[in-house]
Amino acid sequence: MLFASLYNLMRDGLLPDDFMIVASGRSEHSDDEFRAEVDVALAQYIGQEHYDRVAAQALLSRIVYCAAEAGKGDQFACIASRVADRKDRGLAVYMSTPPSLFGPTAQSLAAAGLVTPSTRIAMEKPIGKDLASSKEVNNAIGALFEEDRIFRVDHYLGKETVQNLIALRFGNMLFEPLWNANAIDHVQITVGETVGLEGRVSYYDGVGALRDMVQNHMLQILSIIAMEPPARYDPTAVRDEKVKVLRSLRPFTAEMAKQNSVRGQYGGGAVNGEIVKGYTEELGQASDTETFVALKTHIDNWRWAGVPFYLRTGKRMPTRHSEIMIRFKPVAHSIFAKNGFGSGLEPNTLIIRLQPQENIRLTVMAKEPGLDRGGVKLREVGLDVSLTTAFAGQRRRIAYERLLLDLIEGDPTLFVRRDEVEAQWQWIDSLIAGWHEAEVKAVPYAAGNWGPSSAIALIERDGASWHE
Ligand code: BG6
Repeated sequence: MLFASLYNLMRDGLLPDDFMIVASGRSEHSDDEFRAEVDVALAQYIGQEHYDRVAAQALLSRIVYCAAEAGKGDQFACIASRVADRKDRGLAVYMSTPPSLFGPTAQSLAAAGLVTPSTRIAMEKPIGKDLASSKEVNNAIGALFEEDRIFRVDHYLGKETVQNLIALRFGNMLFEPLWNANAIDHVQITVGETVGLEGRVSYYDGVGALRDMVQNHMLQILSIIAMEPPARYDPTAVRDEKVKVLRSLRPFTAEMAKQNSVRGQYGGGAVNGEIVKGYTEELGQASDTETFVALKTHIDNWRWAGVPFYLRTGKRMPTRHSEIMIRFKPVAHSIFAKNGFGSGLEPNTLIIRLQPQENIRLTVMAKEPGLDRGGVKLREVGLDVSLTTAFAGQRRRIAYERLLLDLIEGDPTLFVRRDEVEAQWQWIDSLIAGWHEAEVKAVPYAAGNWGPSSAIALIERDGASWHE
């Protein structure tokens, strides 16, 4: 993702001509060996039809490699020597390591003289594994960098449709007056993936879907859906509003965790016609890690009083399908009902689809053509905005392209501020504590299903159902 994004940025002429990339990992490679590895990965990821040899060479020639492991001063000195004559030009460090290494790596960078007042540092989620450890990470990084130079990456914020949510809400008159508990019945956020562990066993086991997806991506989406209008589109105004939402999430008790959440773990099954192994089979041992989570929560503020937010995410779902669904309330009185309320009237629904295709769909009731001898017949029809069609010809960028460019240019709007991460963890910790106390175990589901049946019951108890 990172090199492919840099490749695209470079191809579009968005990086400075003398841009330089110092790549680091624990293993030893020469510059040429590492460049060759990146080249193979680029060709694979970008696809032969978009792979341009000249552009790839231009990127590869800017990459050098230095092996580095946190705490090894001589290795960091080697990095420093490679950028010695460029330090005053600005340096952005991108850490994509386990969170326990963020602090030690930053300290090693500082010891090698690589932390100057203009150095920026980016950290790929997860920031810790709970509130306490995220504070440790934030303190360690905060001791070396000012907050406005710390870029916490949540790649969902780099996705066009997530940014489009802000455009939709605040660039149109239509939605904002209705965007509250008076008109909205409930909100659903679904992020379904067909993939399983993808060779990430050592990271994923013990982490699980709640920490891997809900704590960051889904709560970021939720905060954008639910925030008050920021006064302007700038990093402080937007993040101030998001953090207020995160702090208004209703904390879980053990009883609520039992009633309002479901943990699942995939067993063997079939996804897209392919037979796949179960989680513990892939792992090679028993585990209670959840690969699916569904939950219901509330945002305890004036705008959202009484509006349930349903969240679900899982691996080995039937389709790769991510969307936000806003279900409006029914009209106050149906003039079409002959025998009581209803008569085919469905409440309006706004569906913002992130994956696989980006589109926005609003369902409205329309009259079915006809003479209506037996009474007016209405049918639900969709007003569709396919972003792929509306902006045909424009390449859909990888989320990281936007984020890397913002990091290089120093715009933190689409990065997560310390108080946001900590508010996210605080709420997640309440759910994890609830799970422990109430002994909520991961329930098996067959790969290729939308989680355990209890996830369906969770929403149907309230008279709603998951949008599929
Ligand atoms: C990552 C998670 O943050 O997001 C992965 O660690 C997950 O487990 C991925 O697969 C999903 O991202 P996307 O962009 O493919 O929806």
